[in-house]
Amino acid sequence: MIKVSVLGYGTVGSGVVEVLTTNKDSIAKKVGQEIEVKHILDLRDFPGDPHEAKVVHDFNQIVNDDEVQIVVETMGGVKPAYDFVKASLEAGKSVCTSNKELVAKHGAELIAIAKAKNINFFFEASVGGGIPIIRPINECVTGDVIEEISGILNGTTNYILSKMASEGAQYADVLKQAQDLGYAERNPEADVEGYDACRKIAILTSLAYGKQVDFEDIYTEGITKISATDIKYAKALGASIKIFGSSKKVGDKIYAKVAPVMIDANHPLYMVNDVFNGIFVKGNMVGDLMFYGSGAGKLPTASAVVGDVVAAAKNLNVNVPIIWDSEKLELADIKEASQRFFVRLSGDKAANEAKVSAAFGNVDVVDAGIDCEYAFITSAVTEGDFAKKAEELGNVVSRIRVDF
Ligand code: HSE
Repeated sequence: MIKVSVLGYGTVGSGVVEVLTTNKDSIAKKVGQEIEVKHILDLRDFPGDPHEAKVVHDFNQIVNDDEVQIVVETMGGVKPAYDFVKASLEAGKSVCTSNKELVAKHGAELIAIAKAKNINFFFEASVGGGIPIIRPINECVTGDVIEEISGILNGTTNYILSKMASEGAQYADVLKQAQDLGYAERNPEADVEGYDACRKIAILTSLAYGKQVDFEDIYTEGITKISATDIKYAKALGASIKIFGSSKKVGDKIYAKVAPVMIDANHPLYMVNDVFNGIFVKGNMVGDLMFYGSGAGKLPTASAVVGDVVAAAKNLNVNVPIIWDSEKLELADIKEASQRFFVRLSGDKAANEAKVSAAFGNVDVVDAGIDCEYAFITSAVTEGDFAKKAEELGNVVSRIRVDF
């Protein structure tokens, strides 16, 4: 019997206990012995909960308990999760976490401690909810050099953008629905401003190249400026607006960013809607790979955590190597990255056509039947040049990167 303690009995933590209970027999068969939840750490009590007797309020009860071999961390946030996870690893307990903030910030250090202790620090659920993506990058496409990772990495924002497009729903109403469904972060700013996707692409890029990518270095733009009118234009183009976290290897440079992007039906991520996430990975040998599934929510995320618990239970006292050094990976300056831009200007065609042509040369004009606006898509232009030209134009209402 392997004893597990769960830190945090919120959406994901309660899901982990539910998965371990519901699938107890099949999990025991896969591990070769039963897994039992011994403690649930939370500040709150849960009267009436079937597991209420396991609830403890003092982390020392867990870290000092030699029977506990695996700790699940589903508290979220860096404090006090970092201290608890580090102490658990130092006490010789493997840790499985869903906490992307923790992994993005301290992943390299926690992986090194697990290695030194001959145990494991696993974090499959930190990216893409229930989608297996960490293990495939760490253990499967290792024969390749990864050339691109582009993903819809945040379920909340994909849910919001999808409902705005399909139902004409208002931003605030859909955000509330996403919160009620348990998709959103405690502070939904982390979702809608792109910070959550930023941590996730930082984790994937660190794993892909084996070095520390600091999330603070990644250009990040959220969805708060995307309007119903932008969505009308996208529809007129047969396109949809998604928020991508992406990293691309161009020569020996790695570019990474998080930003809304217009994609058309030819893009492999076009059909990824609602809370689903999709992650496109391109390797220099395997070519294109796609990973798809529920990117948030109680049971899908818990499923990924429990997959890690099973892996940790099958590898007690065996470190499964994860290559992610603390050496920093320098990202290339985003200003040099180039792509097409969709642009809306205030004023009609007569007021804008000549100056747009002078700034961008030939453009594809977009007509969505919106009065007093002139909208177009540029040819490929660098971020730096685009920003300069947009400022010179002086009447940009909105601009969205285009990937078609
Ligand atoms: N808030 C996150 C999301 C949860 O919406 O994707 C899963 O990481």
